Amino acid sequence: MRRLKIGVLGSGKGSNFCAILGAIADGRLDAEPVIVMSDVAGAGILDLARGAGIACEVIREPKFRTKLSPTVEAGVVESLRAAWVELVVLAGYMRMVKQPLLDAFPRRVINIHPALLPEFPGLEAWRQALEAGVTKTGCTVHFVDAGMDTGEVIAQAEVPVLAGDSAESLHARIQVAEHRIYPEVVARFASRELP
Ligand code: GRF
Repeated sequence: MRRLKIGVLGSGKGSNFCAILGAIADGRLDAEPVIVMSDVAGAGILDLARGAGIACEVIREPKFRTKLSPTVEAGVVESLRAAWVELVVLAGYMRMVKQPLLDAFPRRVINIHPALLPEFPGLEAWRQALEAGVTKTGCTVHFVDAGMDTGEVIAQAEVPVLAGDSAESLHARIQVAEHRIYPEVVARFASRELP
């Protein structure tokens, strides 16, 4: 089968992208990252992509902090299409995705969130979980829609909250689970199990 072409959008260090690269390298995932785009020029995810010889682009948004202007997002769509992207993988992308991207890739944009949605949508979900005093949290891979972390859930993994956890230790434990389930979900698209 032809390898699934993925486009990755991220704003941070890119550990989930790294896990995806690892899964490809050891044969668990039959996908090809064809482009990595970031709204943060110095983001680690771009260094990872460059190191892996993958095309990179910096998204320049002068006006907004939490979303892209329609014209800038249309430019992102153009780049993804030019690279023949089939699945858009958000990996720590810190902006809301709007209509230009959603319309261009219907049910083809996925995200990973560090909580068991619908619990704790939004920023620093691990800190929200800690402050709420729950005994378990986790991570969720979901389709992206126009809401904030509201799209249909594809997969989840539970993670315990331990006595004495700090925000950092809890996030680190959640990330271990993220690095396991995100490549697994992308693999389900790659094998065409998910349409
Ligand atoms: C992850 O915790 C993910 O759930 C959230 O942003 C973080 C990205 O981390 N959406 P990384 O850049 O993949 O390390």
